[in-house]
Amino acid sequence: MLDWRLLLAVMAVAVAVLALPMAPAWSQDSDFIVIAHRGASGERPEHTLAAYELAIDQGADYIEPDLVVTKDGVLVARHENELSDTTDVASREEFADRNRTKFIDGRNVAGWFAEDFTLAELRTLRAKERIPTIRPQNARYDGLYQVPTLEEIVKLVRAKEAETGRRIGLYPELKHPEFLLQAEGFDTVDLLLLELKRLGITAEDPVFIQSFEIEPLRRLNQRSEFRLVQLINVDGGPADVLGMTYADMATPSGLADIATYADGVGVNMRLLLNDDLTATAMADDARQAGLLVHAWTLRKENAFLPPDRHRPGGDAAEGCYNKVYVALRKVGVDGIFTDNPREIVEEPGKVWNGWCAGEFWKD
Ligand code: G3P
Ligand code: CA
Repeated sequence: MLDWRLLLAVMAVAVAVLALPMAPAWSQDSDFIVIAHRGASGERPEHTLAAYELAIDQGADYIEPDLVVTKDGVLVARHENELSDTTDVASREEFADRNRTKFIDGRNVAGWFAEDFTLAELRTLRAKERIPTIRPQNARYDGLYQVPTLEEIVKLVRAKEAETGRRIGLYPELKHPEFLLQAEGFDTVDLLLLELKRLGITAEDPVFIQSFEIEPLRRLNQRSEFRLVQLINVDGGPADVLGMTYADMATPSGLADIATYADGVGVNMRLLLNDDLTATAMADDARQAGLLVHAWTLRKENAFLPPDRHRPGGDAAEGCYNKVYVALRKVGVDGIFTDNPREIVEEPGKVWNGWCAGEFWKD
């Protein structure tokens, strides 16, 4: 006599087991790194000690300071040497006469520049959210934080390593090194190597140094053992080599040339993924050249996602970033720069969370 209740129970268990996600191969890659892009900049004003510390607390493997220089030669973290997008400098009457227009990397830029301020002057400024319309919750922190020095960032990393027992990597980027050298007289390659040495950081530590330009990386390669990453964008080319384009650099022969002085490429993710999120040839080509591949920049808001990965709610609403994450992992990238380390450390798409239906990695 068939026991229907037993049969139904067995069927229910079978269905449940079949529905369980299998661990995808990419999630077994223990070398994969999460790079906190300008800190946890989805939740705090970028390039502040608060943004870096939150990123570390959220489990980021590396924090990423973009570096510019003060008038007295101190390396500090800002995305641009122009300060008005991310500090209160434009509202400070005492600095009104520092307003300048400079020709930087082929275009005129107006504003206030880090290299025209001593560190003491710069420290009187307060950081603010760069994109308050998309991240109004971050603007609540406007005015609380200073512009940090590289030295402070290293001290923070060491303190957090002691607190957490984890190694925390540093992923500094030299911003506008050719402009700062030729137009302003600051050799930021020299300054960076001297500062890392002074702070006791060696190539044995988890460090990648990155640049959009070529010569600074070639010089770093000649003068140090630090791991180096050539940044590659979709349009344009490196500011220091006239006529060279990123499109040239992204070809197999361009990548082979990069491999003569760098260990990896930091690639705009639009070069790694087609519109339908299938892989382009670039990651494979880079691997063929022996290069690591790090992708930038994964952010969870609609404003930064492909249109067909948007969810209702406008630019600031959270989109289906999990699909892009999974696509990048399937491409086999070795690391992802993200403004949202909390979410990326959790491997979105690995766990069904009820949103972005059909975006589950098992599909
Ligand atoms: O450095 C990787 C990525 O940060 C490059 O873009 O402009 O955010 O520094 P950006
Ligand atoms: Ca950067």
